Amino acid sequence: MLKLGVNIDHVATLREARYRGRGFGEPDPVEAARICEAAGAHGITAHLREDRRHIQDRDIWELREKIETRLNLEMANVPEIVGIALKVRPAIVCIVPERRLEVTTEGGLDVVAAEKSLTETRMKMNDAGIEVSLFIAPDEKQIAASARVGSQFVELHTGQFAEEFHKRWGESLSSPKSEQMGSTKSRPTNLPELDRLIAGAEQAQALGLKVNAGHGLNYENLPVLFRVPHLVELNIGHSIVSRAVMAGLESAVKDMLRLMKNYQG
Ligand code: PXP
Repeated sequence: MLKLGVNIDHVATLREARYRGRGFGEPDPVEAARICEAAGAHGITAHLREDRRHIQDRDIWELREKIETRLNLEMANVPEIVGIALKVRPAIVCIVPERRLEVTTEGGLDVVAAEKSLTETRMKMNDAGIEVSLFIAPDEKQIAASARVGSQFVELHTGQFAEEFHKRWGESLSSPKSEQMGSTKSRPTNLPELDRLIAGAEQAQALGLKVNAGHGLNYENLPVLFRVPHLVELNIGHSIVSRAVMAGLESAVKDMLRLMKNYQG
């Protein structure tokens, strides 16, 4: 079964927009994670960035303590965050680029250029019982380098695919049409980027790597992505959080109005 890891960074983005530096505030990404789990998500993904623009250190510790599924910590391969990961011990880390020099032309991690330091980090993580995933473009050289690094997973970057999909069929993403999930019949699926993902997944699987995918996936483009074989888990954030804002707003307003009925004047 294809697993879903929900990326809750955007919940923290919203909190930080109002409560930056305060150590508290709503919405709480940990509470969001618990709701995602209760809804059936198989894992929770959070990115502790060096600039702490959304997820904070306390979120990671609390997630580690309170969630019942797997915590996937997204992180840059830098000493400070490696040190934190080794203390927190999430189930898995996904190493992502944060700086321009670490990025390949397609937007994923440049594993070829950083093979040595990624191998060192991979070994430290594995020794601590933490699995390792590398977030890479579906590029032959990057996949081969990921296998040499010895990571357990690669996460194929689907951002280019999502862009291509949108350029080709850019409908309103929140339209009722997006409910036609699961049907690819109406969509020709000859996207070059989709072919690259298919070839990349085949190559990774043949090299013994497990294959995840993520970035830019949404309720419309997902059925087309299903042409990609060997996928273990999808990490999805923005589209789920966006839909939550819309799907949950009605009850939020109704709850507020119900409270306001108690006003005595
Ligand atoms: N996977 C990785 C490695 C990411 O960095 C992100 C967030 O950018 C995602 C998946 C989720 O992407 P999105 O928010 O577009 O669903």
